[in-house]
Amino acid sequence: MAKLQVGVIGCGSIARHRHLPEYAQNHRVSLHGVCDLVASRAQEMGVRYGAKVYADATQLLADPDIHAISVCLPNNLHASVTIAALEAGKHVLCEKPMAVSSAEAQAMIDAAAKAGKTLMIGHNQRFMPAHIKAKQILHSGRLGAVLSFRTGFSHGGPEGWSIDGADSWFFRKEDALVGAMGDLGVHKSDLIRWLLEDEVVSVGAHLATLEKNATVEDNAVCTLQMRSGAIGTLTASWTYHPGEDNSTHLYCEHGVVHVGSDPQYQVIVHYDDGEVDRIEVGAMATNEQQTTSGVIDEFVDAIFSDRESAISGSEGKASLEVILGALESAKTRRIVSL
Ligand SMILES: NC(=O)c1ccc[n+]([C@@H]2O[C@H](COP(=O)([O-])OP(=O)(O)OC[C@H]3O[C@@H](n4cnc5c(N)ncnc54)[C@H](O)[C@@H]3O)[C@@H](O)[C@H]2O)c1
Repeated sequence: MAKLQVGVIGCGSIARHRHLPEYAQNHRVSLHGVCDLVASRAQEMGVRYGAKVYADATQLLADPDIHAISVCLPNNLHASVTIAALEAGKHVLCEKPMAVSSAEAQAMIDAAAKAGKTLMIGHNQRFMPAHIKAKQILHSGRLGAVLSFRTGFSHGGPEGWSIDGADSWFFRKEDALVGAMGDLGVHKSDLIRWLLEDEVVSVGAHLATLEKNATVEDNAVCTLQMRSGAIGTLTASWTYHPGEDNSTHLYCEHGVVHVGSDPQYQVIVHYDDGEVDRIEVGAMATNEQQTTSGVIDEFVDAIFSDRESAISGSEGKASLEVILGALESAKTRRIVSL
């Protein structure tokens, strides 16, 4: 294969900020086609990137010249479009949360296995330099086991991000299923699983809609227990303003790691012998300050190398199940075992 011919389905904010520019920068990729429900959005991106414009996803997927696609759509469309793409013989990079149910996520995994194609989920937190650094430190052994943690992701809400502003699908249960938990919380359920190399075994949650005109939650506070026994909290909010918080604190046997709480030193380690390491690894990406995500390059490399991507469907499913568990916990007011 000379170049990977890529199609992007959905030309909203994530496509514009990450997928389209990062494909355009990758020398092994040719941006072949785009589509969007709103034709003018696809038209605009088609002109900007010299890509063919299709009327809809079905037409784009019918083009045999397209080898791989990105799914940049509202959550409730992820599974059907991903499965149709895999059945059409395309590799798929699907945005998070992977799907709106565990059964849908499994059907996506099964479709990828049947087609023999790559399925990757866009959990970009794993590629942030501060998180990579924190993981190296945790697994160097000096700090011992993680005993407890706090992880949170919060900003002022998707009206400042989505291409549809305050009318966005992000606020509607029928399109999104989950609110701040699906937009932000799933990033942190994925991050904590990856950082600790451990699985969440139970979750409890309080969800609330306090500020937004939405049928989904705008705040979530969850407690998690890991297989190792470690416990911690995961918070996700759309009502932190001004600013944005994407921080994680890991309390270990022999010290503490703070990630993303200091703008200059993205990782700070306090060892229990008194030593303090303040580490600069580059700014955390925010909605205002986008950095290259690494997701697109990894997807492309996995395809060329004929290997499983760093964030497989099974990884996406396990991270999704934590937020589905949180929804169930909030509904039943019980701790949910996963
Ligand atoms: N990885 C990340 O950090 C990150 C950040 C933001 C969003 N996301 C995810 O990306 C996905 C898209 O979010 P967004 O921020 O781009 O939303 P957005 O509202 O900005 O854009 C969604 C786009 O999808 C289009 N669309 C809707 N239905 C369609 C259909 N049937 N066919 C074609 N196009 C259709 C809309 O017209 C719109 O242009 C979501 O799943 C979201 O959770 C991921």
